[in-house]
Amino acid sequence: MSEKIRPFVKWAGGKGSLIPQLNKFYPYELKNGIIERYIEPFVGGGAVLIDILQKYDVRQAYAFDINMDLINSYNVIKNNVQELITNLKRMESEYLKLEQEGRKTYFYNKRDEYNNYNLKENEQNIQRAAQFIYLNRTCFNGLYRVNKNGRFNVPVGKYKNPTICDEQNLRNLSNLIQNVQFQYGDYKKSLKYVTENTFVYFDPPYRPLNVTSGFTSYTKEDFNDDNQTELATFYRELNERNAKLMLSNSNPKNTNKEDDFFDNIYQGFNINEIYANRMINAKSNERGKISEILVTNYNI
Ligand SMILES: C[S@@+](CC[C@H](N)C(=O)[O-])C[C@H]1O[C@@H](n2cnc3c(N)ncnc32)[C@H](O)[C@@H]1O
Repeated sequence: MSEKIRPFVKWAGGKGSLIPQLNKFYPYELKNGIIERYIEPFVGGGAVLIDILQKYDVRQAYAFDINMDLINSYNVIKNNVQELITNLKRMESEYLKLEQEGRKTYFYNKRDEYNNYNLKENEQNIQRAAQFIYLNRTCFNGLYRVNKNGRFNVPVGKYKNPTICDEQNLRNLSNLIQNVQFQYGDYKKSLKYVTENTFVYFDPPYRPLNVTSGFTSYTKEDFNDDNQTELATFYRELNERNAKLMLSNSNPKNTNKEDDFFDNIYQGFNINEIYANRMINAKSNERGKISEILVTNYNI
């Protein structure tokens, strides 16, 4: 398994491009190489999880997310990768042979099918995981977003030749995550697994820099300032257990130097800065290098 393994979905707030910078803040040195327990309470596309699993000998790992489809897909990749690939290959060949209009109809039919079915907690649904990946690969900008009613509402994309089934990557990912336990639910569910030998990486929804740039629609619930404050209290609770903690967020000082929201709620911890080419912004002319914060409870 020497080739680089990538996330299976494109995800808003995905950390893929920040990995080289985040690496420098991991609490373990590469040379000793063992992490007894790794936890990601907001796993999303899993860029950091995948990086950690490839670089360290991780004895136990737990990942959580409040997006039920995402967790279903991880579990299907972990347990039923062959059936998933068969499903995706069928969709890929059906879709790619169509012209633009036909593709559009195919996409909206799949989207309706997806939206008209209610996935249940603890259900492992291979077809549903295939639809989720198909929609992510073929929708506009390749992103997952739902409306207030929880319906996936991204329109069809215009990719000429999208890879719907990245077979090798799915197989490699499946091998890589065999020891990871994926659980659907709120990040607080992770509490009972945190011990002093645990490294926890938190990547919650970004606190929006201004009213228009926020992308928080991973699920129908939003993550507001009260939720950020509650998360900081949770962080302090885990700090009491002597776990190693690292947390990402947007830096409000990019747009308002006076905004010390995170300085207040993470007072007493190290607030480091890293630089990102943030990809999701309401206005494309706002793209560019902005800083993000990385809160750690240890020194590098
Ligand atoms: C910034 S993204 C994580 C991105 C991830 N690090 C990556 O590289 O793709 C935040 C994730 O938190 C999840 N989320 C939002 N509220 C949550 C909650 N209360 N508990 C657990 N997960 C939550 C969202 O569904 C989303 O996947």
